[in-house]
This record gives sequence, C-alpha cells and structure tokens, in this order.
Amino acid sequence: MLEICNLRKSYGGKTVLDGLSMTVQTGEIYGFLGENGAGKTTTMNIVTGLLAKDSGSITVDGKPEGDMETLSIGYLPESPEFFEYMTCREYFRYIAAACQYTGNIEKRTEEVIGLIGLTPSIDRKIKGFSRGMKQRVGIGCALYSGKDLILLDEPTSALDPQGRADVMEIIQRLKEMGKTVILSTHILSDVERVADRVGILHQGKLQLEGSIQELLRANASHVIGFEADGLTPALREEIAALPFAEKVEGKDSSCYVTIAGDWEAGSRGLFRFLADSGLTVHRYEESRPTLEQIYLKVVKTHAATQSWG
Ligand SMILES: Nc1ncnc2c1ncn2[C@@H]1O[C@H](COP(=O)(O)OP(=O)(O)OP(=O)(O)O)[C@@H](O)[C@H]1O
Ligand SMILES: [Mg+2]
Repeated sequence: MLEICNLRKSYGGKTVLDGLSMTVQTGEIYGFLGENGAGKTTTMNIVTGLLAKDSGSITVDGKPEGDMETLSIGYLPESPEFFEYMTCREYFRYIAAACQYTGNIEKRTEEVIGLIGLTPSIDRKIKGFSRGMKQRVGIGCALYSGKDLILLDEPTSALDPQGRADVMEIIQRLKEMGKTVILSTHILSDVERVADRVGILHQGKLQLEGSIQELLRANASHVIGFEADGLTPALREEIAALPFAEKVEGKDSSCYVTIAGDWEAGSRGLFRFLADSGLTVHRYEESRPTLEQIYLKVVKTHAATQSWG
C-alpha cells in the first residue's frame, strides 16, 4: 500500500530523514514509533504531499508520488484545528464539501459521527468540546471520504485511558473495513494492542521494522524467575551451562534465567531441567518482553554508537 524508499529531508542544515525506507502492507495497522523530533510528522507530511522531500521515492498503492493529489489518503495531523463556532454536524458537512464527497452527505455525516462516538453531541458546537472530543472530530475528518490509507499522527495524545481504548477500537474497526492505518504514537501499549507491524524511526532511518511477534522474539530479553528449595551453586552452574541460558542471577533459593534465542523452546527446556532435577519449585514465572523494552534498546544502542545532530 505504501512504499517509501531512501527518503531524505533536511531543514536548513539539520538532517531529519537520512534515507528512510519503510513498507506498509494493504489492510494492516502499522505503528510508527520514534522519540520526539525523530521525524514522524515530517514523514507523514511528505507522504500526504504537504511538505516537499529532498530526495527518495514514495508510492501509494503503486502510484508514484507525482499523483499525490489524487492519492487515496486520509490524514489526522498532529494538531488539528477546527472551525469551532460550527456544530459537529455542520463541521462534517463542511468537510464533505471540502473533500467533494459525492455520496449522501447527511447519511455519511451521521455514520461518521456514530463511528467516532459523538452522536449524543452531534448538534453541539465544537467550541464546547473537550480535547478528547476534538481528537475524535479530527479522526472523523481523516476517515470521512472513505480513503483506503489513513494516517493518524498521535490520535490518542489528549485522551484519558477510556478515550484511548475507544480510539483503538475505532482503529480496529477501520481495519475490519479493509483500511490501512498508519498510527504514530508514544503510547507503546496501545501499539502492542492494535498494530500488526511496527517501525521504529531513529536517527533518520527505520532501525527496526516487523510484526510485533517477530520483534518480540528477536529483540527483547526474556527472563524466567523461580524459587526452589535445595538450589545449590552446582545446580546454578548446570543451569548456566544449558544452551539456551544467557545469564543466571539471583541468590539463596531464587533464580532468574535470561533466555537466549527462541524463548518458548528455552522455557520448555528449563521446565524440563527443573522437573528432572528433583527440586521443589515454589514459584515459576515468565516475564514476557514488551515493545517498550525493544524500543528502549533501539534508542539506547544507537545513542551509544553514533552521534547525531
Ligand atoms: N518547519 C520546520 N523547520 C525546521 N525544523 C523543523 C520543522 N519541522 C520540524 N522540524 C524539526 O525536524 C525534526 C523532526 O520533527 P517532527 O515533527 O517530524 O518529529 P516527530 O517525530 O513528529 O516528533 P514528536 O514525537 O515530538 O511529534 C525536529 O528536530 C524538528 O525540530
Ligand atoms: Mg510529531
């Protein structure tokens, strides 16, 4: 659906995108991650044609970016502005006119307002809306004309936990309708909840891209902690010598084993070892890796090895 190849962008002498390449497949929810100032908004503005790139290529649904005006993209910008003197219904009628909507405007307006959960406030002025409600209006604008690719730049930034869950549900429904959604956010648990794949933008490039499962398997450390009576130093050494054990920590009866490689195989192996060892195990828990660990690892690794700015 979206293919970005070797995209470069500088502001003055400051390089922001330094050969960014990323691929977003049709029908997926793509979590676009990166620290403040990484260049997420810059990328979205270039993809939507609001900002000129320096070099690189972008295709949307196979069409080159020269066709940008006719491309099928809906966009929620980072800080959307509204005509606040209008009611919610009036504003979406205005959006219908602005995007030259050719269908039944009244029906579509009510449908979109229903989808973003603002039906009870349909005839209230936007001026009196909370930030979260305005955020929903912004999402409604991005999806109003039924475009296939929807870019949402931090759609949950102003929202409370319930509001965030609601927006995640809207995004899930867009996916069920066959839309492709690119979502930038700093709330990694949201991304873990809805995204099929993620890309981490850091120092001008995508440092990591893949499905959440793939990234979790390949990049995060996975620790199993247990407590067992009769855990001798010799047994600890035996555990440390197991092929999947990267690190063994803990003291007295507690032990923490960092698993290297395929954690499911490692977990099965450790479980088998403990069963065969005759130890009495009181506690056994796996700490699953999180997207946050992976994200921090990417940011720290590259901060330590390269200078940027
Ligand atoms: N119009 C501009 N002129 C000069 N520098 C700019 C301009 N717009 C953005 N920048 C710089 O480009 C870098 C990337 O900004 P951008 O807004 O794309 O980051 P971001 O990843 O969206 O960050 P955030 O998570 O804070 O929204 C920043 O260092 C920013 O200061
Ligand atoms: Mg931004």
